[in-house]
Formats: sequence, C-alpha cells, structure tokens
Amino acid sequence: MKEMAAAAKTIAEMFDGKRAYDADGFKAAAETLKARTGPALIAEFPEGTLGAPSAARMEIGQARPEFEALARHIGRLADALAVKAGQAPAAITGDMRMGAMLPMDGGSLLGKRPGAVEADPAKLPAEHLLHLVLQDCSSCHSKFRRKQQ
Ligand code: HEC
Repeated sequence: MKEMAAAAKTIAEMFDGKRAYDADGFKAAAETLKARTGPALIAEFPEGTLGAPSAARMEIGQARPEFEALARHIGRLADALAVKAGQAPAAITGDMRMGAMLPMDGGSLLGKRPGAVEADPAKLPAEHLLHLVLQDCSSCHSKFRRKQQ
C-alpha cells in the first residue's frame, strides 16, 4: 500500500504541477502502480486471514468478490496508465490531459455510462486514468479500510 500510495502521489503531483514532470519518473511510478494493483493487491489480503490483524481484513473476508473486483478494476486502469507512461513524451501534452478526447456531446464517459470506461481504458488520456485510479483507491478504502483517526 505504501509504495502504491507514493507512486499515485508522484503522478498526481506531476499532473497538478506540484512536482516537476519527468517522463522517466512518470513511467517508474506507473509501473509501481501496475505492479501493486490487480493480483498483487489481492494477494496482499489473502483469504482466510479473517479477523486478524485488522478490522479491514474481516470486512474483506465478508465481501471478498467485491474486494477482488475493485482490485482488478484498479489493476486494469493501472495497466492502461503504465502503457501510456511507457510512451510518455518529455513534457505533458494536451492529449494527456483530463478532458482530451471526450465526446463532444458533453462527457458521457464521466459516469453516466459505466460500461464505457471498462470497454477501453487505453483510449482515455493519462490524467483521466489517474483520476479513475484515485477514485478506486477511495472506493475501496471507504468500504474496506478501517478509519484510523
Ligand atoms: C481493493 C481495495 C483497495 C484499493 C483499490 C486501494 N487500497 Fe489502500 N488500503 C486498502 C485496505 C483494506 C487498507 C487497510 C489495510 C489494513 O488495515 O490492514 C488500505 C490502506 C492504505 C493506506 C494506509 C497504509 C497501510 O499500508 O495500511 C494507504 C496509504 C493506502 N491504502 C493508499 C492507497 C492508494 C493511494 C490507493 C490507490 C492507488 C489504494 N490505497 C488503493 C485497500 C485498498
């Protein structure tokens, strides 16, 4: 989780202009995200560890299919992002930005047709993929991660 978090933060800061963008750093962070999501994320919470050591794990045990679906979903997005990062240019270009390539009829990709994104995440701009990845982080945490404050 911590490496995944650091990688997501690195990419987010590059796109937000809080950190200097560099193509190699983007690639490395996207590869980390890819490596830590999907099957690796599922393996981090093995079945049968119900109850211990954290409350989170107990809930995962009870809703295993949903947990695994989320882990695989974020994995697919991270794969697509890693492909984009592998071809990333030396500077952030317009077509990497949120909103690039959205349909002219007002962004039906953003939510109303849930199937659209799943159909081909590779068609989305890098920044949009990043936002979808971050949404999956929150979806999973709001359901499975015990509040620690
Ligand atoms: C499929 C579910 C799932 C997804 C997706 C997910 N997390 Fe988590 N995350 C968890 C769970 C469960 C915990 C709590 C672990 C525990 O209490 O044992 C956690 C804990 C954390 C922590 C606390 C530190 C730690 O190691 O416990 C951080 C930071 C974190 N996640 C960041 C992220 C980021 C960033 C993303 C997206 C790139 C993400 N997570 C995606 C399930 C998920």
